[in-house]
Amino acid sequence: MLEVWNNDKIKNLSPMDKDQWFDVLNQGLEEDRGYDLSTPNIEEIRKSIKKDYIDYLKSCSVDPDFYAYYILRKSGGIIVSLLRIVLKNQAYYLEGLETHRDYYRQGYASSLLIQVLYDLKRKNIKEIYSFVRNHNEQSLKFHYKNGFVEKEKDPINTKFVLNIEDKLRKDLFDSWSINYNKSIIKSEEEGTYPFAGYSKIKYQILDIISKKTTAKILDMGIGTGQITSPLYDLGYEITGVDLSEKMINIAQKKLPKAIFVCDSFYNSLERLNDQYDFIIFNYSIHHLDYESQINLLIRLNKYLKYQAKILIGDVSTFNLVDMENLHLKYESIWDDEEYYPINEIYIKSKLNELYEISYNKINEVSGIFEFIKR
Ligand SMILES: C[S@@+](CC[C@H](N)C(=O)[O-])C[C@H]1O[C@@H](n2cnc3c(N)ncnc32)[C@H](O)[C@@H]1O
Repeated sequence: MLEVWNNDKIKNLSPMDKDQWFDVLNQGLEEDRGYDLSTPNIEEIRKSIKKDYIDYLKSCSVDPDFYAYYILRKSGGIIVSLLRIVLKNQAYYLEGLETHRDYYRQGYASSLLIQVLYDLKRKNIKEIYSFVRNHNEQSLKFHYKNGFVEKEKDPINTKFVLNIEDKLRKDLFDSWSINYNKSIIKSEEEGTYPFAGYSKIKYQILDIISKKTTAKILDMGIGTGQITSPLYDLGYEITGVDLSEKMINIAQKKLPKAIFVCDSFYNSLERLNDQYDFIIFNYSIHHLDYESQINLLIRLNKYLKYQAKILIGDVSTFNLVDMENLHLKYESIWDDEEYYPINEIYIKSKLNELYEISYNKINEVSGIFEFIKR
């Protein structure tokens, strides 16, 4: 269970809360401060260290840079993991992530991080930073494993940044990867949002691409490789981008010689240095808001050969009114965090100068966009 200790909550903590908080941090503190454990007054020293810590905790309640302590409790009530978020120059920093010594290597720190990220996302916070001492191998490992990206490094510290939305999406798709193909089939069979028309879109994409006998294809959000594996089998050159390592692992089995980039759409651009005949977004671009979709599609222009195409298959409509009606019809299962492509939005944007845009409606729910590079 997650608890958020903000300034006010810290003022009113019970002695037991403070003791439990300190117990998580109380690991080799005497040695860290250079004391010999056989010193006769070691108990005095311990008391004084504890007092320093509790004084620090109290000081958080009046520190303008302090945002919150996040506390993860086990069902019995014991605190197993904690961290704090502080504000520096309007940026949010993760600090002091600790797990109780009896609960190491059981996934509590990662679980706490995810819950904290959901809370920060609800508060519209987009990214968090973190400094790690270069000698702290365990913490460095934790940061890399959890998708933090190195931003700066000096002889003492490494500064990391984590894009909150990307991390949460990656985790969602990692856990969905095994059942992803089954859920497409189910939604298709029922003929409902979101995957009604998935196969039709897939075959139309194959039809469009197979008019060329050879082609370089970039599949953005390749997932389990459903769309590009038949093309791979036909000998087309495939590069797949996806945030989710587990989705990529499944795709890799079907497309063993394809190139894979496990990163977000935007970050992957720095690692792609080719020009493609086709760039596909199948049920993937909707994870970006409309402004980011447009910016990404603009940036992708230089990754396309002359008259090459971007193909977008997705839940989509001609205009905003149709999208609103679709939303109302599927209100109970609608995903409010997805931004489905709307022809009207693309046409009215700068994309229209860069691409010849056409939209082919497949059914009530979905359709395909073709963007031809002008
Ligand atoms: C609904 S699945 C579609 C997968 C595949 N294109 C298909 O048609 O079956 C969306 C995929 O996009 C990936 N994805 C979502 N947001 C992403 C982002 N910002 N950068 C890279 N991949 C992303 C997800 O990990 C997931 O594998």
